[in-house]
Amino acid sequence: MTRRIYADNAATSFPKPPEVLAAMTDYAEQLGASAGRGAYREAVAAGELVAACRGRIARLIHAEQPQRIAFTLNCTEALNLALRGMLRPGDHVITSRFEHNSILRPLHELAAGGVDVSYLHVDPATGRIDPDDVVEAITGHTRLVALQHGSNVTGMIQPIAEVGRVCRQRELMFLVDAAQTLAHIPIDVQALGIDLLAFPGHKGLLGPLGTGGLYVRDGLDEHIRPLTAGGTGSISELPTQPDFMPDKFESGSHNAIGLVGLGAAVGWVLERGVESLRRHEIALCKRFLDTITHVDGLTLHGPRDVEQRVGVFSVRVEGLEPSELSALLETEFGILTRSGLHCAPWAHDTLGTHAGGGTTRLSFGAFSSEADVDACIEALTAIAVPTDVTVQ
Ligand SMILES: Cc1ncc(COP(=O)(O)O)c(C=O)c1O
Repeated sequence: MTRRIYADNAATSFPKPPEVLAAMTDYAEQLGASAGRGAYREAVAAGELVAACRGRIARLIHAEQPQRIAFTLNCTEALNLALRGMLRPGDHVITSRFEHNSILRPLHELAAGGVDVSYLHVDPATGRIDPDDVVEAITGHTRLVALQHGSNVTGMIQPIAEVGRVCRQRELMFLVDAAQTLAHIPIDVQALGIDLLAFPGHKGLLGPLGTGGLYVRDGLDEHIRPLTAGGTGSISELPTQPDFMPDKFESGSHNAIGLVGLGAAVGWVLERGVESLRRHEIALCKRFLDTITHVDGLTLHGPRDVEQRVGVFSVRVEGLEPSELSALLETEFGILTRSGLHCAPWAHDTLGTHAGGGTTRLSFGAFSSEADVDACIEALTAIAVPTDVTVQ
């Protein structure tokens, strides 16, 4: 088989640690039961594995207790739970023009129902917001600030700690979309003043698709309505939804096999340490940036400073549509990328790349190697400068 280089970790990480598949296979072969839905050994064991996953995520983000984490299908569902669960007509929410559709679309719907939304402008070169703009946008009705931590278009890291401080001082709730940063950058929800942290299990955490979650600060859950109601395996005699976490937000059978895999993945992340994963990512970013910023005919959108970014890169090559570039990278070089708007249309408006079909995105992950990065540099250079394939 020809070489395949996976450079789409911003969509979902690949490969996963071998421990993930092993844990899922063990569960499927030996347990198979629904977590928390029976008193027999296999159901109890499945429940313990799901609880272990919750505990590891709580440790990773420094949540007060494991039950502060509610599992969801993905980051989108977690963001919907936070936004739709919390905001009421008349509330004001502050967000940015760089957000993913999983924040923009629920907010558009909520705005139609009477929620007031302010969109912060961002630095057009990078996508970074200015925390002073958050202060300026606050009104007497502001309830929530909802921002992504890292951009899935430019890799830009937002000044989350500064915004967290503003939110604390002004007693506003702070929702952070950590889709591109959890397990890429250390996140301590308590130190950063984060009230709600939405995250996928299948990206930086290295778990399987179909996993994600929402961290809810102690005491906030009573202000959030669940998206669904139903069986929780707890206080089943009552016709009403439990009012305690995580059951309040976890109706129906869990994705037990997925959460078992996620538990193994988070164990792997904790063992390596996020700082060490971050060092690896910074080294790859530096290697990519050192060369790619000097290639004629190629434009990189986003920060040059490795400290201000994660390993998500948006590029355009003169004379090529982003989709043509992705196709060439795959067919000629076996490099897998994603082209288009990346579910962030306003980010591309800001960058000036919307009308041209967006960008081609390359994103590296925990299992990307220096050789992978070099192959991407060589391929992009060969495409952008066809007569001179020498890496400058
Ligand atoms: C910044 C950002 N937020 C939210 C999401 C949605 O994540 P999920 O696919 O887990 O719903 C993504 C996915 O790419 C993302 O990049």
